[in-house]
Amino acid sequence: MGKGFYVSKNLGVAAVVLAAGAVATIIALSVVYAKEKSKNQEKVGHHRAIPTTHPAGAATAAPSNKPWDRYRLPDTLVPENYSLVLWPRLQPNEHGMYIFTGNSSVVFKCVKETDSILIHCHKLNLTMVDGYHAKLLSVDGSPVPTLKTTWLQEKTQLLVIQLNGNLKVGKFYQLDTQFRGELADDLEGFYRSEYYEDGAKKVIATTQMQATSARKAFPCFDEPAMKAVFSVILIHDSDMVALSNGMESATEQIVIEGHTVKKTVFQPTKRMSTYLLAFIVSDFTFVSTEQKKNNVLVRIWARKKATDEGQSKYALNVTGPILEFFEKYYNVSYPLPKSDQIALPDFNAGAMENWGLITYRETSLLYDPKMSSNGNKERVASVIAHELAHMWFGNLVTMRWWNDLWLNEGFATYVSYLGVDYAEPTWNIKDFVVLSEVHRVFAVDALASSHPLSSSEAKVSKSEEISEVFNSISYSKGAAVLRMLSNFLSEPVFAKGLNTYLNQFAYGNTVYTDLWNHLQKAVDGTPSVKLPHTVTDIMNRWVLQMGFPVVTIDTRTGQLSQKHFLLNPESVVDTPSQFNYEWYVPINWMKTGVEKKRYWLLSKTATHSAMKTSGTEWVLANINVSGYYRVDYDLNNWEKLLTQLNENHKDIPVINRAQILDDAFSLARARIQKITLALRTTKYLSHEREYMPWAAAIRNLNYFFLMFDRSEVYGPMEAYIRKQVAPVFAYLKTITLNWSRVPAGHTDQYNQASIIMLACNNGLKECQNLTTCWFREWMQNPDKNPIHPNLKSAVYCSAIAAGGSEEWDFAWQMFKRASIASEADKLRAALACTKVPWLLNRYLQYTLDPTKIRKQDATSTIVYVASNVVGQILAWNFVRTRWEYIYSQFGGASFSFPYLIQGVTKRFSTEFDLRELLQFKDNSKAGFGSGTMALEQAIEKTKANIQWVAKNKEEVLKWFTSESA
Ligand SMILES: *[C@@H]1O[C@H](CO)[C@@H](O)[C@H](O)[C@H]1NC(C)=O
Ligand SMILES: *[C@@H]1O[C@H](CO)[C@@H](O)[C@H](O)[C@H]1NC(C)=O
Ligand SMILES: *[C@@H]1O[C@H](CO)[C@@H](O)[C@H](O)[C@H]1NC(C)=O
Ligand SMILES: [Zn+2]
Repeated sequence: MGKGFYVSKNLGVAAVVLAAGAVATIIALSVVYAKEKSKNQEKVGHHRAIPTTHPAGAATAAPSNKPWDRYRLPDTLVPENYSLVLWPRLQPNEHGMYIFTGNSSVVFKCVKETDSILIHCHKLNLTMVDGYHAKLLSVDGSPVPTLKTTWLQEKTQLLVIQLNGNLKVGKFYQLDTQFRGELADDLEGFYRSEYYEDGAKKVIATTQMQATSARKAFPCFDEPAMKAVFSVILIHDSDMVALSNGMESATEQIVIEGHTVKKTVFQPTKRMSTYLLAFIVSDFTFVSTEQKKNNVLVRIWARKKATDEGQSKYALNVTGPILEFFEKYYNVSYPLPKSDQIALPDFNAGAMENWGLITYRETSLLYDPKMSSNGNKERVASVIAHELAHMWFGNLVTMRWWNDLWLNEGFATYVSYLGVDYAEPTWNIKDFVVLSEVHRVFAVDALASSHPLSSSEAKVSKSEEISEVFNSISYSKGAAVLRMLSNFLSEPVFAKGLNTYLNQFAYGNTVYTDLWNHLQKAVDGTPSVKLPHTVTDIMNRWVLQMGFPVVTIDTRTGQLSQKHFLLNPESVVDTPSQFNYEWYVPINWMKTGVEKKRYWLLSKTATHSAMKTSGTEWVLANINVSGYYRVDYDLNNWEKLLTQLNENHKDIPVINRAQILDDAFSLARARIQKITLALRTTKYLSHEREYMPWAAAIRNLNYFFLMFDRSEVYGPMEAYIRKQVAPVFAYLKTITLNWSRVPAGHTDQYNQASIIMLACNNGLKECQNLTTCWFREWMQNPDKNPIHPNLKSAVYCSAIAAGGSEEWDFAWQMFKRASIASEADKLRAALACTKVPWLLNRYLQYTLDPTKIRKQDATSTIVYVASNVVGQILAWNFVRTRWEYIYSQFGGASFSFPYLIQGVTKRFSTEFDLRELLQFKDNSKAGFGSGTMALEQAIEKTKANIQWVAKNKEEVLKWFTSESA
């Protein structure tokens, strides 16, 4: 799945929140499940149906050994193929309800003798046949046992069929079911999405199966290793089109129950997992091309209006090169005859890699060159690359169980950068891995409550537990350690291992060690690559223990040491590691600008005398942050690095300039270095013209704003930042000829947006004049927006912050009118920037009304408000008051929920805040569902913030006061 809730990664970085409640990047937070989960004990009596939407919540009592009380299927039956007919009704029935009906036949093989059939089935109303929920048939004419009893086991989401007699090993059987389900607007399983076109409401039917919702569409063996072939037929109105994983092979008009409808038959799929299925009925239109080299048909589907406006063009243009790249990279041809990609108005994640029919949020697939920013464009390219990468890695070869999700998602995240780099070589996109993945996840993985990438199958079994592994550790840390691995193996060796892995396991399932074995084979066949240990031994330390090391280099002696890096030095790590929190660390390094040979730190301490320095020589380690670790030095070396930055910063690679800032601030947070050392790394920024170091600074200073924007530190801090940003603001003004041009480079474009945001938020008058003036101009002529798309986020926010209800209402009108999702998103974020409390409160109320704020956007809108210094307390009160409702809407297995909790508590830094948070925890009757761990973490973070503020406030105030003078 694509990363829905990270918002647009780079758009996020560009628009990092500053002071005056700007657009928030929802900083990825750790959803942590490694800490001992309170093991849910289950009731013996299996017929007790408890509400199944929150299976973890309610169950109590003793464990049971009955197979239908377990969340995992028994290993007795294996599906071969399904024949499936589905008929979604896009008009409500006489009860005002939207439904679908269907029937399914699954042929399965018995591989272990058994007298029961367990198959997933959730929220489906099965038609009874002779008093049973299903019908069992012979496939080869041999006799089949009769049914004894059948029932639905709601808690484990199973249809249970007990037989009079056993199924025989090696025999095939067929199970038929007929069913009806609700086509709800719940964004899960087979669901309904609504949108308006020219004032008319349109309804479409679509799916989101990952992770465990295929069972909501039809009874199925709903585990990723239960691969089968699916023959699908969709029934629909004649003026609609139906899409599925396979290519449409026939359509015909038929009459059922007096309705004339169309039947679309699809080619049988390849052997695949249920979570990758997709069924869509819509009135969408498409643009297409046929790939010359491999005859793959590429179609981009969207609302008719979006297609007509050409918003699908960029996706179509970029898909070809990205597919071509992955075919080369994996050295395996694209496994399917077609690639459909469709932009949906209502979609929970960022995108979903259904095999052959990828679904996207509109903002992840559609791009309008006149209206969208370079960040929107990058978002489209990188989400497409992420999802296309899965067509092989994840879909052709699939992890056996969800505990290995990190490999699937980490991999797709990493290689998406390679795919985009191929399609858009001028963007330098590969550098962004560091900001968007490595630095981002460092913040999460440095907590004592983090968790290892890999966990046992047993720890991830219920739907909620599966939802929780879709977190930044899986995506971003997964990407960071795979990038490190690819770096020390070299890219050709990494790709060679991938190739043999994909070939061996095509249409099958794996565990992550299978990949290590193939990479090892590639290493063994390449004499030039020498590793100090096997791939498995090296990677185990990164995968099986949480966190990462800080490597300390003493350049006076050449001594190195490593230590588990914890953001809060007082936090207690109560999960022991078999590797004692030591890692095998590959160290790429340079001395005074000259790159040296890679050094492996293999123990807690070691000496590498080449790292000794004399005179003005300095050492810089972790070049380009290709390793997943932080670096600290003796003070002497730090001083020399600071001198280098101040005198000629270009001698240090640009990624490492960002790294020095990020490491120094983090070391200060962890109380390993003084806060003033970190602040001093920002002094050279008045000379810095590159985006990455500024982005790193903004992200780190954001913490200072969160902690201090209501205190006396704020004034001097603002003045200092204004002083630092003014020269780069002036520089940008010059290179854009008084803001009349767009800077040429992709990263310069980001820089322009984030510098305007920073400058305006910190009271640079010229900047505020500029943005207010642009916005005014737009208000006077709403049909002609003079603001460049790249700058919209920054300009809207700063103008709305400076304005009152007139500006707000105008922006709200423009939001309602926006036909482009990315434009709507920018306005929705900017509406949270106002300083007027009643406007913010009214906006919060709007999040409860899906006709005002779409349900998919509700939680992020609340978080935007909380990011505003004025909105913080309002959002917190709002969430507390409306908790039961919010929980019932978003709390179950929703991926967005942890972000809400993190978002509304991120300024918490006083004893009073902590007391309120603890009280909230105690008082909540509803519980916290998929946000349980996020709440624990908010408590941990609040405690750390209290200490940090107490310890640092005086010194920070003093430093900013003297430096702003
Ligand atoms: C570091 O990254 C830059 C920019 O992407 C690249 O040009 C350079 O070769 C990289 N250096 C190393 C040692 O990987
Ligand atoms: C930019 O504006 C200033 C006055 O604000 C003017 O002096 C200068 O010539 C302008 N530069 C360009 C390239 O238009
Ligand atoms: C901002 O605009 C006001 C009037 O609109 C003007 O008086 C002032 O000089 C401007 N300030 C700057 C720094 O451009
Ligand atoms: Zn993914």
